[in-house]
Amino acid sequence: MPETHNLPTARLAPSILSADFARLGEEVKNVVAAGADWIHFDVMDNHYVPNLTIGPMVCEAIRPHVQVPIDVHLMVEPVDSLIPMFAKAGANIITFHPEASAHVDRSLSLIRDQGCQAGLVFNPATPLDWLTHVMHKVDIILLMSVNPGFGGQSFIPATLAKLRQARALIDAHTRAGGQPIALEVDGGVKADNIGAIRAAGADTFVAGSAIFGQPDYAQVINEMRKQIALADQQAAN
Ligand code: DX5
Ligand code: ZN
Repeated sequence: MPETHNLPTARLAPSILSADFARLGEEVKNVVAAGADWIHFDVMDNHYVPNLTIGPMVCEAIRPHVQVPIDVHLMVEPVDSLIPMFAKAGANIITFHPEASAHVDRSLSLIRDQGCQAGLVFNPATPLDWLTHVMHKVDIILLMSVNPGFGGQSFIPATLAKLRQARALIDAHTRAGGQPIALEVDGGVKADNIGAIRAAGADTFVAGSAIFGQPDYAQVINEMRKQIALADQQAAN
């Protein structure tokens, strides 16, 4: 059984990839008013992933509109030159894909040196082995539950087993005196699968189309929290 008891408080991080970009300031304000804990900010470069989105200028533009942390997910290659730019633009958390950095340890240090929390992102086929020698430098582990590049894809079920594996690694690390590490999941997260994802050990949930695709953001966010609470109750019994 996974160690679902004593999971950290759940956090919801709506991905603005599915927001209305013509009204982005209003969208981020509305989603925070609806109960979002973080804003998830997807950066794509049409090189590491086959899509092109937003950069530091847009991060800087939304920064004054919200008080919550901005969680920057870099789907770019190379990684390092964008790190100081996003830190300056107001990012609080910066994650990147280890395959996209020539020097993973250096990129993690660079993020922390800029005063941000640092994380590694694992594609569905990427093994967690990348963590072995850098676990002490990681504040967040992000598991992709779709192949990165687009919103609105279906959750890949094999992510549940990988979440349990990551949860076990994190628990062993903190039990041995290591720093806390968040466990985030990204892709295809909806109210009807978030309970199972929680039970597998996630504490931070990215959701794009599930939230921004609906007229009432608070209703979706409340339903997601309800499903997470139910999963926690079931795990405690
Ligand atoms: C995919 C992005 C996700 C995406 C999630 O490459 O990293 O953050 O916006 O969108 P949904 O929740 O619609 O799968
Ligand atoms: Zn993302």
